[in-house]
Amino acid sequence: MLEHDVLVIGAGLAGMRAAIAARAGGATTAIISKVHPVRSHSNAAQGGINAALTDRGDEWEDHAYDTVKGSDYLGDQDAIEVMCKAAGQALIDMEHFGVTFNRDDEGRLGTRAFGGQRRARTFFVGDFTGQALLHVMFEQLIKSGVRRYEEWFVSSLIIEDGQVCGVMALEVRTGQVYAIRAKTVIFCTGGFGRVFEPSTNALICTGDGTALAYNAGAELMDMEMVQYHPTTLAGSGVLISEAARGEGAYLLDKDGNRFMEKYAPNMMELASRDVVSRAEQTEINAGNGVDGCVYLDCRHLGEALIMEKLSQIREIGIDLVGCDMIKEPIPIRPGMHYAMGGIRTNVDGQTNLPGVYAAGECACVSVHGGNRLGANSLLDTIVFGERSGNHAAEASRSVDYIEFNVDQAVSNEEKRIQAFLDRPQNGDRIASVRLGMGESMNRNLAVYRNEEGMKKTLVELKELEKRYETVPIENKGKVFNTDLIFGLELGFMLDCATPIAMSALDRQDSRGAQARTDYPNRDDENWMKHLVIKKGDSGPELSYAPVSITQWTPEERKY
Ligand code: FUM
Repeated sequence: MLEHDVLVIGAGLAGMRAAIAARAGGATTAIISKVHPVRSHSNAAQGGINAALTDRGDEWEDHAYDTVKGSDYLGDQDAIEVMCKAAGQALIDMEHFGVTFNRDDEGRLGTRAFGGQRRARTFFVGDFTGQALLHVMFEQLIKSGVRRYEEWFVSSLIIEDGQVCGVMALEVRTGQVYAIRAKTVIFCTGGFGRVFEPSTNALICTGDGTALAYNAGAELMDMEMVQYHPTTLAGSGVLISEAARGEGAYLLDKDGNRFMEKYAPNMMELASRDVVSRAEQTEINAGNGVDGCVYLDCRHLGEALIMEKLSQIREIGIDLVGCDMIKEPIPIRPGMHYAMGGIRTNVDGQTNLPGVYAAGECACVSVHGGNRLGANSLLDTIVFGERSGNHAAEASRSVDYIEFNVDQAVSNEEKRIQAFLDRPQNGDRIASVRLGMGESMNRNLAVYRNEEGMKKTLVELKELEKRYETVPIENKGKVFNTDLIFGLELGFMLDCATPIAMSALDRQDSRGAQARTDYPNRDDENWMKHLVIKKGDSGPELSYAPVSITQWTPEERKY
């Protein structure tokens, strides 16, 4: 029997940090991931990780204020305080684990500026910080003795009498179905970026954990808050790091004007992401872009700086659009990047389901509110991954495994998967349904939204769900059946899409990443509240929750 006190699902930074903490807390711990851990999406975080270090004259309160303001006052201030207070130690822990952060001229840990922050407090490794952190965390994971299920796909969550008792999972290499018992389960499954097309997210970001938790009765929160990053590459939508603007790059319209002067005269290109993305989209809509893009100009930074600190994005520009940022501006536009919303948790990762935790992008604590500051996501994964692992380890001490009929559970899951494989071959293909969903979301739930568009997407999603019922699985085999995995993932994505669109339609104001052309103002009187969505007997049910305000009174947001 496979059984563990703590089972972490997802092996990105949040997952590995949670597993290491749970193991250190004395729990028998396992981590399960549909990909090898170092292929997780944390890899793609480029620009850095934020922390206010007192010996640099920076204070956690300043970091917290910038985060609160960046969130457009929707972030929970008590949770933001927890994150920002913990940031310095989390950063030093990562350095001690072995991350070789860039250094400044005096040999100390170096920083760069990032959007929406009044100080340069972003620590970094070139423009591949996430990758550097992820590899070091993987070394620590190996050292910790956590059991690893690599390339295992979690297909269901098992809940008995309202208490989690484990998961059903498919070993991708063999196609064999297993039940894994667990006293506590921590979802660290990342975002749902691929519900949108295009997206900066890896193809694996399909909202699996969010959908599994939601279908089991977990509350989701602030699902409407979807971040469009200001600099994603023309065509593919691949991320071009904010680090470029942090190092001093300009945004230009088709005539070479630095248009951010009009929108954020103080912070210019380093205003918060939502502000910069709206500015770009406004210029593009007004005909001041080229082929749906504006330009990112790095030429004045010089070859030496670009090669030292921005070499990865330079290569991306050359490889994907044939553009060398040392010599010419590169075409970029706002693109789907991050989910501020997700599985509702407290600061210890607990959800409303006993024994079920969440941390990282799939969770909504909420420290990002309506708009996340760049470089706060790596911090979020490490701080709340660790807290969730600690709490789950402690909690698992006082509960027993819950009995369930393992043979029956395996047999039921095998039948469910076989029925999926046995579908007739005449339905639409997975890729076509997936693209239909992604393009509809990107058309109507992007930088600017309105009632008409969002209602249209909700109707389209209903049709897509119908088409999903008959998508065929063409590969009938057992070994590495990626066709089957894509099919299951598509179901998870559709489960996430409707709550996103419903929440966005319900929120009748503009705040953070949600900019409604039909409700263009922030309305604190009626909408300074979180939107919670839960699966009810007859469909999704919306409710509201208060925002925690500790020391920063909401005010007009200017950069
Ligand atoms: O632009 C970036 O490097 C992205 C960083 C982040 O989303 O935190």
